[in-house]
Amino acid sequence: MTGLRVETGPAHAALLGVGAYRPARVVPNSEIVDAIDSSDEWIQQRSGIRTRRWADDSETIVSMSVAAAQEALQHAGLDARQIDCVIVATVSHLLQTPSAATAVAHELGTDQAAAFDISAACAGFCHGVALANDMVRAGSAGYALVIGVERLSDITDPTDRGTAFIFADGAGAVVVGPSETPGIGPVVWGSDGEHYDHIRSREDWRDVLSSEEPRMPHLAMKGNPVFRWASYSMAKVAQQALDRAGVTVDELDCFIPHQANNRITDAMARAMRLPSSVSIARDIVDAGNTSAASIPLALHRMIQEGEARRGDLALLVAFGAGLSYAAQVVVVP
Ligand SMILES: CC(C)(COP(=O)(O)OP(=O)(O)OC[C@H]1O[C@@H](n2cnc3c(N)ncnc32)[C@H](O)[C@@H]1OP(=O)(O)O)[C@@H](O)C(=O)NCCC(=O)NCCS
Repeated sequence: MTGLRVETGPAHAALLGVGAYRPARVVPNSEIVDAIDSSDEWIQQRSGIRTRRWADDSETIVSMSVAAAQEALQHAGLDARQIDCVIVATVSHLLQTPSAATAVAHELGTDQAAAFDISAACAGFCHGVALANDMVRAGSAGYALVIGVERLSDITDPTDRGTAFIFADGAGAVVVGPSETPGIGPVVWGSDGEHYDHIRSREDWRDVLSSEEPRMPHLAMKGNPVFRWASYSMAKVAQQALDRAGVTVDELDCFIPHQANNRITDAMARAMRLPSSVSIARDIVDAGNTSAASIPLALHRMIQEGEARRGDLALLVAFGAGLSYAAQVVVVP
């Protein structure tokens, strides 16, 4: 029997470019509070959020993804035709099929690329980076685009006190490609399906269609258990990602957790005993929780504001519905 020939890629992969798209419309807490009997002060104190962005009709999942991807390609010095795979992480692409990624690849002008969506909620971007890292190193893609994008304003109930002030819209993208030195550390990922229903769509499409009143299956969240799970368990996952990458907290430059709640970020930083030299992402203050888009948006802001510099070591840790999570250390492009 003849054995199959197998291929491998370069020894290392890295993030080569980062891009972002933030919708034009800024929504302050004052626009939200009346419908949920809340206050600007309560929202800022409990979550850190001051404003968020909501997309208008022209700012679609595809258009926001394309804009973020084009900036990431430019940052990487690449042409879209060099991309072999487009991965879109999202839970708010409301067309069941085909994937948003195929439309994004087409709009970018890379029709030959493999293209697919992944559903890992707020952990989707870090799942995508892990997949792209493995693809490049295995030789199945020369360059891959990973995009996190959401229009959560479409699936958030404006009268729900537990979610209306949290969720928001935007897109962030990275290019992953070959590197002379390691640029993406081992992923630590998993899921805790016992808490499958802590964050979920209220209903599936069959429930909606069998009802008398047409309605959107909005997101529902058990905020307090999610808060405790994230604050307690995610610092351990983050520490494991550091250990697997052989990086100590003293060597770390940036901490970029999923932008879910500033108090969760504080709890993780305390539990990991991050030294004050580590820059901590606080994009949530003016972006809200953009689920799969939150980490690339936060990374992009930190680069723009000089808090993350080329060659810095950044710890990414993402968590959300499922409950699913993924963390890795990356070198800032
Ligand atoms: C949503 C969240 C901010 C709520 O904060 P919390 O401290 O857990 O709030 P609780 O639900 O325990 O409610 C505490 C009090 O605030 C009140 N409250 C709840 N929502 C409120 C709102 N939007 N405005 C004003 N008061 C509110 C409650 O009625 C309760 O009042 P009481 O003490 O008089 O009974 C917090 O649970 C959270 O951030 N969870 C994680 C969310 C998250 O990360 N999600 C994404 C993961 S991907």
